[in-house]
This record gives sequence, structure tokens and C-alpha cells, in this order.
Amino acid sequence: MKSPIIVPVDLLIQEPCASILCFPKPTESELESRREELRGLGVSALEFSGNASVYGVQLPVLGKGFVGVVVVAYLNGQRVAVKIRRTDADRANLLHEAQMLSKANSVNVAPKLFGASKNFLLMQLIDGDLLPDWLEVNKDPAAVKKVLGEVLEQCFRLDEACLDHGELSKAPKHIIVDRALRPWIVDFETSSDARKPANVSAMCSYLFSSKGELARAISENLGARDDSGIIRALRDYKQKRTRENFEKVLSVCLG
Ligand SMILES: Nc1ncnc2c1ncn2[C@@H]1O[C@H](COP(=O)(O)OP(=O)(O)OP(=O)(O)O)[C@@H](O)[C@H]1O
Ligand SMILES: [Mg+2]
Repeated sequence: MKSPIIVPVDLLIQEPCASILCFPKPTESELESRREELRGLGVSALEFSGNASVYGVQLPVLGKGFVGVVVVAYLNGQRVAVKIRRTDADRANLLHEAQMLSKANSVNVAPKLFGASKNFLLMQLIDGDLLPDWLEVNKDPAAVKKVLGEVLEQCFRLDEACLDHGELSKAPKHIIVDRALRPWIVDFETSSDARKPANVSAMCSYLFSSKGELARAISENLGARDDSGIIRALRDYKQKRTRENFEKVLSVCLG
């Protein structure tokens, strides 16, 4: 990992920082208003560190997607994560995501929300690796079962809270495993509390029944799963979302 570079909000107007604050296209007025927005949230500096990068910019970041770039921020002296809305994002603001994240927090899921505005979402910083990378280096079946079991428990809590994440059936970038082996589900921008929640089903299909690379890696580690047993257990769970039916899902997936 490259060494971290800490830049006070006042200096973010300079390149290459400007290109991260307003990725992919900084303008003078947008830079000015975004720096004002950061000050209003109580952010004093951004830190460029992490294993990801942004096209054409020579600064490390924590992560990048189609909606945002995620970096470390200093909030009241504390290191937190900030998702910065891309200037070309197909979302007008990050306020819906903040609302959904707060709802996930209420059932003890996802990084804690610290603040939000049109272009920024401040949340707990998770120090860890994305699940597919974590699985590449962690081969102990007991640890793998513990982490995947906790992922499914969190999905169950989201189902119970009637909050559908929306992107868990293909989630290579949406689960971070921290150093204490706790998984964290991130990115609630396409989440909804209005549609029927299908977090457990979506996650099971991603982890166990899809033909993707991750499902293959998991079955290599844990042994082949009983696919039709998983389908049956999920069908029962879908019909009746009870703890008992969820535990049958857990047992057929990880037992
Ligand atoms: N709280 C956090 N702590 C540490 N890293 C984070 C945190 N939140 C997100 N990340 C990293 O940043 C990446 C991008 O975040 P996120 O998925 O929210 O952005 P996005 O633009 O909505 O992405 P996508 O286009 O995939 O939907 C994540 O995959 C993860 O690696
Ligand atoms: Mg997203």
C-alpha cells in the first residue's frame, strides 16, 4: 500500500486532489461548493490511502464505484470513511443512501452513519478486505463458515427490518471482512424499504448457487453444497420468514 497523504480541506482545490473531490470532472464552482459542504459536515481533511485507484489520478483511495469514490476523512479528529458522489453519478444526492444506511444501522448492520449531505456520506471506516480477496487468503473452513454465517445473519436482520439491499445477488464489492473477522455489508444506495426484502435469498444465491468465481471458491473450500436442499430451504423461508426457517437455510448452506 502507498503511504497515506493527508490534505486539509482548504488545499483540496489543487490537483490531483481536486479530481477526486469532483471525479471525473472538477470545475471551480463545484470544488468551492463541495469544500464548503465538507466544512459544514465538520470534516477538516481527507486522507488518500488504500488499495484502490481512480482512473487517471495518482492518489490511492479506499474504493470506487459508479456512484462514488470512497476515501478516509478526518471528522472531529477521528478517521472515518467518506463516500464522495461522482459528478457523473446517476443519483442527484446521497440522502436516500444515508436514510437506508441509518435503517440498516438500527438492526446493527453496516458501517455506522455519521453524517450526510448532497455529495458526501460520512460513515464508520472499515479496515479490511473485500470478501473475494479475503477468501483468497483465508482458507480455514471454520473461519470461512463463521464469516459467511454472520453475513447471512445480517441479511436475516435486514429482511426482518424490511430493508432490501438490492445488490446482494452479485456483491463482489459489497462485503468487507475486517481484522476481527466481522463482515460488513456496504453500499445501500439501491436499497429500499418499500419492496419485498430478499437479502437472504440473494446472498445465498451469490455465495452458494451461482456459477460465479466466488461460489466456486467457497465450494472448493467447504465442499460441494446440496443445491436442491438450498433451493427448498429458501423456498420455505420465502413463504414463511421465521427464525426456524432461516436456521434451516443456515444449516443446509453451512452445516
Ligand atoms: N465504510 C467503508 N470503509 C471502508 N471502505 C469502504 C467503505 N464503504 C465503501 N468502501 C469501499 O469503497 C467501495 C465503493 O463503495 P460503494 O460500493 O458504496 O460505491 P458505489 O459507487 O455505490 O459502487 P457501485 O458502483 O459498485 O455500486 C466499496 O466496494 C469498498 O471497497
Ligand atoms: Mg453502489
